[in-house]
Amino acid sequence: LTLPAIKTAWASSFPVGAAVEAPETLGARSDVLLRHFAQITPGNAMKPDATHPSEATFTFTGADQIVDYAVAHHLRVYGHTLLWHQQTPAWFFQHADGSSLTTSTDDQALLRSRLQTHIQTLADHFRTTYGEYGAAGNPIVAFDVVNEVVDENQSDGLRRSEWYRVLGPSYIADAFRYARTAFGPNVKLFINDYNTEYANKRAPYLALVKSLLAQGVPVDGVGHQLHVEIGRSVSDIDATLSAFDALPVRQAVTELDVSTYKSSGESWTTPPTTRLVEQGYYYRDVFAVLKKHASSLESVTLWGLDDSRTWLRSGAAPLLFDGTLAAKPAFWGVVDPS
Ligand code: XIL
Repeated sequence: LTLPAIKTAWASSFPVGAAVEAPETLGARSDVLLRHFAQITPGNAMKPDATHPSEATFTFTGADQIVDYAVAHHLRVYGHTLLWHQQTPAWFFQHADGSSLTTSTDDQALLRSRLQTHIQTLADHFRTTYGEYGAAGNPIVAFDVVNEVVDENQSDGLRRSEWYRVLGPSYIADAFRYARTAFGPNVKLFINDYNTEYANKRAPYLALVKSLLAQGVPVDGVGHQLHVEIGRSVSDIDATLSAFDALPVRQAVTELDVSTYKSSGESWTTPPTTRLVEQGYYYRDVFAVLKKHASSLESVTLWGLDDSRTWLRSGAAPLLFDGTLAAKPAFWGVVDPS
């Protein structure tokens, strides 16, 4: 008996990917990754703190290792992320003496120019190293341009980050314009956020994307992280994907994982078997919804490969393979309705 390959099971619907760091590109983990996934997202290696630790220093060692791996194994790469309020070095928002940038015209121009330089230098680096975007040698097909800029608790729906404090709302459109100039037309430019399946997050997310499109901002796609737990409403996910299906954008599930914890009060080393089974059915239900929206989905990405290497707290066991790389009920849920 051989395990069905996830990427084959879903080949006629969308590419299925996984977030990776160096360990996923080695040994047994790599074997599992390559059997099941057609695309990778660097989990950390392309973030601003990894690529641009100080204003004068760019470091691409980690990012290149992951892109090299993709080239060697014919995987697509989904880039993540150009602008975020986390994992972004403090120097972006400071003067050389450590004082904070203000909202003065000069400081705003400085931060915009830093953002543009950051985006342009990343794009130029991968073009120089792997060839023109869209050509055979360069596997980068999409990039999260801005990550988590929505806050449903603000009257304008926008997160009060350092980007917002210095620049106001305009930095979002600017980031997309810089990215289009830097990457050209062959890398799909995504906005990305979490909890987008909730109605109260969906509304400001939709309003923001509509307003960007109305201004001619080059947004190609809308990302839904989909960090969920067993029992989160699947019909909410369906409703969010339907809402964006009506817009002229691609969509992507960018960071899917399903925690077996249903509340913060629960805690265990290994989830009860009943939860692992329930998780399998939940994954099945999620993928059944994704299938309905396949024509607008650019890709569907799991936020990791196995439960021993997840960003969630110990015991969450949110992925498709356990720490020994054995397929869980979650794996069977994913391949079941394909
Ligand atoms: C997480 C990584 O998986 C962790 O290794 C890191 O310590 C923190 O960031 N939303 C995102 C991702 O957009 O970049 C985050 O990744 C998870 C939440």
